[in-house]
Parts: sequence; structure tokens; C-alpha cells
Amino acid sequence: MKKFARIVGTGSYLPPRIITNSELENSLDTTDEWITSRTGIKERRIVEDQNTCDLALEASINALEMAELKASEIDLIILATTTPDKIFPATATTLQDRIGASCPAFDIQAVCAGFVFALTTAQQYIENGVAENILVVGSETMSKIVDWNDRSTAVLFGDGAGAVVVSKDNTTGIKHAKLCSDGKYLSSLHVNNNGINETGTIEMMGNEVYRIAVNRLSDLAEETLKDCNMTPNDLAWMIPHQANIRIISAVAKRIKLPMSKVILTIEKHGNTSAASIPLALDVAVRDGRIKKGDNLLFEGIGGGFSWGSLLVEY
Ligand code: UT7
Repeated sequence: MKKFARIVGTGSYLPPRIITNSELENSLDTTDEWITSRTGIKERRIVEDQNTCDLALEASINALEMAELKASEIDLIILATTTPDKIFPATATTLQDRIGASCPAFDIQAVCAGFVFALTTAQQYIENGVAENILVVGSETMSKIVDWNDRSTAVLFGDGAGAVVVSKDNTTGIKHAKLCSDGKYLSSLHVNNNGINETGTIEMMGNEVYRIAVNRLSDLAEETLKDCNMTPNDLAWMIPHQANIRIISAVAKRIKLPMSKVILTIEKHGNTSAASIPLALDVAVRDGRIKKGDNLLFEGIGGGFSWGSLLVEY
């Protein structure tokens, strides 16, 4: 009998400190009007004394609670992050210790596509019978790698974490996944350090990233629907990586999906990289928009470039 990996619990966490666009007007040559109209972002959360694992822990506790599972029942932890607490060990192993699990744990680095890469990896472990319950987390403290003097990037990012528990199911769950990478775009979006002993900050050629993101994500959405013999009508919701409202709208328009079927959190979260999809998922599960049996399309793209999609029956 085919095994599916099914999402049985979601959780999220945002640090309490809110930075509004108006606050950024005081430190940068920018305006609320520019940020809102170009990106859809109004505010973002920023850590003060917390690290990536602190955020991941809170989101994971919430997801386990919804799944009605104890940490000791988790067989594997996969944590997607671009902003690990340390170069090593993996932030996932710190999370494993702090949450009270005794399973293998590892990090995945695919920047803003990290959660899609992590959930696809979890799917393989479950479908192949290697694990039954997996905790998949996207957690980021992007504020630590932002150049706060660079208005072209500082206004975009935020901190936060989202988590899901996926369990073996005999009926439904993840129906399709596709991952892609193209390393020739390294200089379009990267952290500008030379070697691991140097710290750096995010550098991005915004226009180029924007154009490629719209094209790659539209093509991938169409391909995913075709592979699943579905049309946009079969989707209950698209839950895209939240980088820019104009990218999300352009993709929705291209694939003929009404914006009323898109989950948006960018206004309040900004771009939280690997955390943005599970954060948006948890918001919409908890406010009742997403219901059991809904077909969900997850899509994300980020540095590398790396990008991917998942078609999930919730
Ligand atoms: O999550 C990973 C993937 N990342 C993305 O998907 C991000 C993709 N890129 C984008 O979302 C957009 O390109 C941005 C939001 C980053 C920039 O928007 P844009 O419409 O592409 O603006 P632009 O870079 O073409 O800049 C337009 C103008 C420039 O001024 P000039 O040269 O026309 O005089 C910029 O200097 O806006 C200026 N500008 C700003 N002005 C006020 C850039 N940042 C700001 C700012 N406030 N914060």
C-alpha cells in the first residue's frame, strides 16, 4: 500500500518586537509609501536577544501540540535555515535537545526555498518507510545578516519560524514535489562574505531576482498542476514564499489563479526566508481558512537560485 506524508500539525512563532515602515523612515532614505507599493510590506518582526533555535522551538511546540504528539514520538527533525545559530553543530540538533526528542536531526540550506526542500526530504523518509513522524521547521533570524544601512534590502526581511509535523498516512498527503537549482545566479542574491571566517550581509540584484522569480515560479506552478492532472480550479489555496506581493500577484495572474485563493502574510511578516511558507500555512490553518481535504500549492524561490513546489492534500 502506498504511504503518504501528511501534515498533521502546524505551528509558528514571531518575536515580539515590531518594526514598522514608519520606524525605518527614521534611519533610512525610504518611505512607507515606497515600501508598501513596491513590496506589500507594512511591518516585520525582529529578534532582540533570541536566536534561530529559540524561534524554532516555540513553533515546534505549537506544531506538536496540534499533532497531539510528544517530542519523544518524533523520528526525525529537519530544520531549514539560512541563519543557523552556529556554523556547527546543526541548529536542528540543538532543537532536538531542547524539545526533548531523541531522533536524528539535520539542517537544510536552500535559503527562501528551504522549507520546500525540507518538506520534500521528509516526504521521502515517510514514503520509503524509514520514519513515521517528522518535525519539519523553517526558522530564520534574517535581521542578523541584513545591512541595516542598505535601503534596497533592509526594508524587505523579517524574523520568525514555522513548523509542521508530517506523519505516515494511508490515504493522502503530499501528492507531488519538484525541486530545482541553478547555481549560475550566485551573485544575483548572496551574502557577500569571503570565506567562513568573515561575516557578510545580503546583497541582491532586486530587478533580476524579481524577473526570474516570476518566470520560474509560474512555469513550476503550471508544470505541477499538469503533472497532477489538475487545473487552478482544483486548488483551494496557493501558499507562496512571501517575498514581494507583486511577484505573488504576477504568478497568480500568469497561472489564472484568483488572488482570493492566495494566502498572504507579507504585510505583517515581510520576507522571513525559509520560515515564510510554514508561517503562512499556520496562520491560515488556525484562522480556519484551510480545511482538511484542501489541495494546497506551496512554492518558493531564493538564493542559489533554488526553487521548488509541493502539491499537498491537507
Ligand atoms: O526571497 C528571495 C527572493 N527575493 C525576491 O524575490 C526579491 C525580488 N525583488 C524585489 O522584490 C524587488 O526588485 C525589490 C522590492 C527588491 C525592489 O523593487 P523594484 O521595483 O525592483 O525597485 P528597483 O530596484 O528597480 O529600484 C527603483 C528605485 C531606485 O531608484 P532610482 O535608481 O530609480 O532612482 C532605487 O534606488 O527605488 C530605489 N529604492 C528605494 N527607494 C526608497 C530602492 N530601495 C528603496 C527604498 N526606499 N527602500
